[in-house]
Amino acid sequence: MTQPPLKLPDTGPMTTTLPDGRLSAPSAIRNAAPIFERLAQYVPDGGMALELASGTGQHIAGLAQAHPDVAWQPSDLSDERMASVLAWRAHVGVANLRAPIQFDASGTWPAWPDLGLVYVVNLFHLISQLDAKAVIGGAANGLAAGGHFFIYGPFRTDGAFRSDGDEKFHASLAAQDAAIGYKDLEWMEAAFCANGLSLVAVCEMPANNLVVVVRKGT
Ligand SMILES: C[S@@+](CC[C@H](N)C(=O)[O-])C[C@H]1O[C@@H](n2cnc3c(N)ncnc32)[C@H](O)[C@@H]1O
Repeated sequence: MTQPPLKLPDTGPMTTTLPDGRLSAPSAIRNAAPIFERLAQYVPDGGMALELASGTGQHIAGLAQAHPDVAWQPSDLSDERMASVLAWRAHVGVANLRAPIQFDASGTWPAWPDLGLVYVVNLFHLISQLDAKAVIGGAANGLAAGGHFFIYGPFRTDGAFRSDGDEKFHASLAAQDAAIGYKDLEWMEAAFCANGLSLVAVCEMPANNLVVVVRKGT
Protein backbone atom coordinates (compact mmCIF):
# COMPACT_ATOMS: atom_id res chain seq x y z
CA MET A 1 0.00 0.00 0.00
CA THR A 2 1.26 3.49 -0.83
CA GLN A 3 2.21 5.42 2.32
CA PRO A 4 0.52 8.83 2.77
CA PRO A 5 2.98 11.73 2.42
CA LEU A 6 4.86 12.59 5.61
CA LYS A 7 3.82 15.75 7.41
CA LEU A 8 6.94 17.91 7.22
CA PRO A 9 7.37 21.57 8.16
CA ASP A 10 7.36 22.53 4.46
CA THR A 11 4.47 20.29 3.40
CA GLY A 12 1.28 21.75 1.96
CA PRO A 13 0.56 25.46 2.10
CA MET A 14 4.14 26.26 3.19
CA THR A 15 5.38 25.31 -0.29
CA THR A 16 4.69 27.95 -2.95
CA THR A 17 3.72 26.95 -6.48
CA LEU A 18 4.91 29.50 -9.03
CA PRO A 19 2.91 30.11 -12.25
CA ASP A 20 5.32 28.03 -14.37
CA GLY A 21 4.99 24.98 -12.09
CA ARG A 22 8.14 25.48 -10.00
CA LEU A 23 7.66 24.56 -6.36
CA SER A 24 9.57 26.64 -3.85
CA ALA A 25 10.09 25.50 -0.26
CA PRO A 26 11.03 28.05 2.44
CA SER A 27 13.57 25.64 3.97
CA ALA A 28 15.30 25.15 0.61
CA ILE A 29 15.54 28.93 0.16
CA ARG A 30 16.87 29.44 3.71
CA ASN A 31 19.53 26.75 3.66
CA ALA A 32 20.80 27.14 0.08
CA ALA A 33 23.48 29.82 0.60
CA PRO A 34 25.22 28.26 3.65
CA ILE A 35 25.11 24.81 2.06
CA PHE A 36 26.43 26.00 -1.31
CA GLU A 37 29.28 27.79 0.44
CA ARG A 38 30.33 24.55 2.20
CA LEU A 39 29.82 22.46 -0.91
CA ALA A 40 31.96 24.53 -3.30
CA GLN A 41 35.28 22.89 -2.36
CA TYR A 42 33.90 19.40 -3.08
CA VAL A 43 32.42 20.11 -6.51
CA PRO A 44 34.55 18.24 -9.05
CA ASP A 45 36.25 20.02 -11.96
CA GLY A 46 34.13 18.07 -14.44
CA GLY A 47 32.22 14.81 -14.75
CA MET A 48 28.92 14.27 -13.05
CA ALA A 49 27.20 15.21 -9.79
CA LEU A 50 24.08 13.40 -8.64
CA GLU A 51 21.50 14.93 -6.32
CA LEU A 52 19.41 12.43 -4.33
CA ALA A 53 15.93 13.46 -3.16
CA SER A 54 15.95 16.68 -5.21
CA GLY A 55 12.47 17.64 -4.00
CA THR A 56 11.44 20.91 -5.64
CA GLY A 57 14.66 20.97 -7.74
CA GLN A 58 15.56 24.52 -6.71
CA HIS A 59 18.92 23.58 -5.17
CA ILE A 60 20.28 21.70 -8.17
CA ALA A 61 19.09 24.44 -10.50
CA GLY A 62 21.26 26.92 -8.60
CA LEU A 63 24.19 24.51 -8.43
CA ALA A 64 24.11 23.85 -12.16
CA GLN A 65 24.23 27.60 -12.81
CA ALA A 66 27.10 28.08 -10.36
CA HIS A 67 29.20 25.12 -11.60
CA PRO A 68 28.82 24.96 -15.41
CA ASP A 69 31.62 22.40 -16.00
CA VAL A 70 29.77 19.64 -14.15
CA ALA A 71 26.78 17.66 -15.46
CA TRP A 72 24.18 17.84 -12.69
CA GLN A 73 21.67 14.98 -12.42
CA PRO A 74 18.52 15.59 -10.34
CA SER A 75 16.61 12.62 -8.94
CA ASP A 76 13.81 11.85 -6.52
CA LEU A 77 11.77 8.86 -5.44
CA SER A 78 8.55 10.75 -6.03
CA ASP A 79 7.14 10.94 -9.51
CA GLU A 80 5.20 14.05 -8.41
CA ARG A 81 8.47 15.99 -7.92
CA MET A 82 9.54 15.59 -11.55
CA ALA A 83 7.31 18.39 -12.89
CA SER A 84 8.78 20.94 -10.49
CA VAL A 85 12.36 19.88 -11.23
CA LEU A 86 11.62 20.14 -14.96
CA ALA A 87 10.15 23.61 -14.43
CA TRP A 88 13.26 24.74 -12.53
CA ARG A 89 15.39 23.26 -15.35
CA ALA A 90 13.44 25.26 -17.94
CA HIS A 91 13.68 28.37 -15.75
CA VAL A 92 17.48 28.35 -15.44
CA GLY A 93 17.98 27.07 -19.02
CA VAL A 94 21.51 25.74 -18.58
CA ALA A 95 22.78 22.85 -20.72
CA ASN A 96 24.61 21.12 -17.84
CA LEU A 97 21.41 20.42 -15.86
CA ARG A 98 20.04 17.04 -16.91
CA ALA A 99 16.39 16.03 -16.95
CA PRO A 100 15.32 14.56 -13.59
CA ILE A 101 15.01 10.83 -13.07
CA GLN A 102 12.77 8.95 -10.69
CA PHE A 103 15.26 7.13 -8.49
CA ASP A 104 15.00 5.37 -5.12
CA ALA A 105 18.32 6.17 -3.48
CA SER A 106 17.98 3.05 -1.30
CA GLY A 107 17.51 0.84 -4.37
CA THR A 108 19.93 -0.45 -6.98
CA TRP A 109 22.22 2.24 -8.37
CA PRO A 110 22.97 2.26 -12.12
CA ALA A 111 26.61 2.59 -13.18
CA TRP A 112 27.01 6.34 -13.63
CA PRO A 113 30.34 7.12 -15.31
CA ASP A 114 32.62 9.69 -13.72
CA LEU A 115 30.40 10.35 -10.69
CA GLY A 116 32.51 12.75 -8.60
CA LEU A 117 29.85 14.03 -6.20
CA VAL A 118 26.68 12.74 -4.57
CA TYR A 119 24.70 15.54 -2.90
CA VAL A 120 21.74 15.11 -0.58
CA VAL A 121 19.80 17.50 1.63
CA ASN A 122 17.25 16.49 4.24
CA LEU A 123 16.74 12.83 3.43
CA PHE A 124 18.33 10.66 6.15
CA HIS A 125 15.81 11.51 8.90
CA LEU A 126 12.93 10.56 6.57
CA ILE A 127 14.05 6.99 5.88
CA SER A 128 14.66 3.87 7.97
CA GLN A 129 18.10 2.72 9.16
CA LEU A 130 17.93 -0.10 6.66
CA ASP A 131 17.31 2.33 3.80
CA ALA A 132 19.96 4.73 5.14
CA LYS A 133 22.50 1.89 5.04
CA ALA A 134 21.44 1.11 1.47
CA VAL A 135 21.85 4.77 0.43
CA ILE A 136 25.36 4.89 1.90
CA GLY A 137 26.23 1.58 0.21
CA GLY A 138 24.83 2.85 -3.10
CA ALA A 139 26.84 6.07 -2.94
CA ALA A 140 29.99 4.14 -2.00
CA ASN A 141 29.58 1.88 -5.04
CA GLY A 142 28.45 4.61 -7.40
CA LEU A 143 31.13 7.21 -6.70
CA ALA A 144 34.35 7.33 -8.68
CA ALA A 145 37.53 6.91 -6.60
CA GLY A 146 38.22 10.15 -4.74
CA GLY A 147 34.61 11.33 -5.17
CA HIS A 148 32.67 12.94 -2.31
CA PHE A 149 29.30 12.24 -0.69
CA PHE A 150 27.97 15.53 0.75
CA ILE A 151 25.11 15.20 3.23
CA TYR A 152 23.12 17.96 4.94
CA GLY A 153 20.44 17.47 7.54
CA PRO A 154 19.50 17.03 11.18
CA PHE A 155 21.26 14.34 13.23
CA ARG A 156 21.68 13.28 16.84
CA THR A 157 25.18 13.65 18.25
CA ASP A 158 26.72 12.09 21.38
CA GLY A 159 23.48 10.18 21.94
CA ALA A 160 21.34 13.31 22.23
CA PHE A 161 19.11 15.58 20.20
CA ARG A 162 20.74 18.89 19.40
CA SER A 163 17.70 20.99 20.43
CA ASP A 164 14.15 20.64 21.79
CA GLY A 165 12.84 21.41 18.31
CA ASP A 166 14.82 18.49 16.89
CA GLU A 167 13.45 16.14 19.54
CA LYS A 168 9.89 17.25 18.73
CA PHE A 169 10.42 16.90 14.98
CA HIS A 170 11.85 13.40 15.43
CA ALA A 171 8.85 12.45 17.60
CA SER A 172 6.43 13.72 14.95
CA LEU A 173 8.18 11.63 12.29
CA ALA A 174 8.34 8.51 14.46
CA ALA A 175 4.63 8.90 15.23
CA GLN A 176 3.93 8.66 11.50
CA ASP A 177 6.32 5.76 10.88
CA ALA A 178 8.20 4.11 13.75
CA ALA A 179 11.03 3.02 11.41
CA ILE A 180 12.11 6.54 10.43
CA GLY A 181 13.60 9.50 12.27
CA TYR A 182 16.90 11.10 13.19
CA LYS A 183 20.09 9.04 12.79
CA ASP A 184 22.99 9.20 15.20
CA LEU A 185 26.07 10.76 13.63
CA GLU A 186 28.17 7.97 15.18
CA TRP A 187 25.94 5.36 13.50
CA MET A 188 26.42 7.16 10.16
CA GLU A 189 30.20 7.18 10.69
CA ALA A 190 30.23 3.42 11.31
CA ALA A 191 28.20 2.87 8.13
CA PHE A 192 30.61 5.06 6.12
CA CYS A 193 33.58 3.14 7.43
CA ALA A 194 31.94 -0.23 6.63
CA ASN A 195 31.53 0.97 3.03
CA GLY A 196 35.05 2.29 2.48
CA LEU A 197 34.10 5.96 2.84
CA SER A 198 36.47 8.20 4.85
CA LEU A 199 35.10 11.04 6.95
CA VAL A 200 36.37 14.38 5.60
CA ALA A 201 34.34 16.96 7.52
CA VAL A 202 31.49 17.51 9.95
CA CYS A 203 30.35 21.15 9.98
CA GLU A 204 27.87 22.93 12.20
CA MET A 205 25.18 24.63 10.15
CA PRO A 206 22.31 27.02 10.98
CA ALA A 207 19.31 25.60 12.88
CA ASN A 208 21.41 22.83 14.47
CA ASN A 209 21.84 20.98 11.19
CA LEU A 210 25.07 19.37 10.11
CA VAL A 211 27.01 18.99 6.90
CA VAL A 212 28.76 15.63 6.77
CA VAL A 213 31.25 14.98 3.97
CA VAL A 214 32.86 11.64 3.18
CA ARG A 215 35.23 10.59 0.44
CA LYS A 216 35.56 7.34 -1.46
CA GLY A 217 39.00 5.93 -0.68
CA THR A 218 41.50 7.36 1.77
C1 LIG B 1 12.25 17.02 2.85
S1 LIG B 1 12.30 16.69 1.14
C2 LIG B 1 13.90 17.34 0.73
C3 LIG B 1 13.94 17.87 -0.66
C4 LIG B 1 15.18 18.68 -1.03
N1 LIG B 1 16.38 17.88 -0.93
C5 LIG B 1 15.26 19.91 -0.13
O1 LIG B 1 16.06 19.93 0.78
O2 LIG B 1 14.50 20.85 -0.38
C6 LIG B 1 12.58 14.95 1.06
C7 LIG B 1 12.58 14.38 -0.34
O3 LIG B 1 13.08 13.04 -0.25
C8 LIG B 1 12.43 12.25 -1.23
N2 LIG B 1 12.67 10.85 -0.88
C9 LIG B 1 12.17 10.17 0.17
N3 LIG B 1 12.65 8.91 0.18
C10 LIG B 1 13.50 8.81 -0.88
C11 LIG B 1 14.30 7.76 -1.40
N4 LIG B 1 14.34 6.56 -0.83
N5 LIG B 1 15.05 8.00 -2.52
C12 LIG B 1 15.01 9.23 -3.10
N6 LIG B 1 14.26 10.25 -2.66
C13 LIG B 1 13.51 10.04 -1.56
C14 LIG B 1 10.99 12.75 -1.17
O4 LIG B 1 10.26 12.42 -2.33
C15 LIG B 1 11.19 14.25 -0.98
O5 LIG B 1 11.22 14.93 -2.24
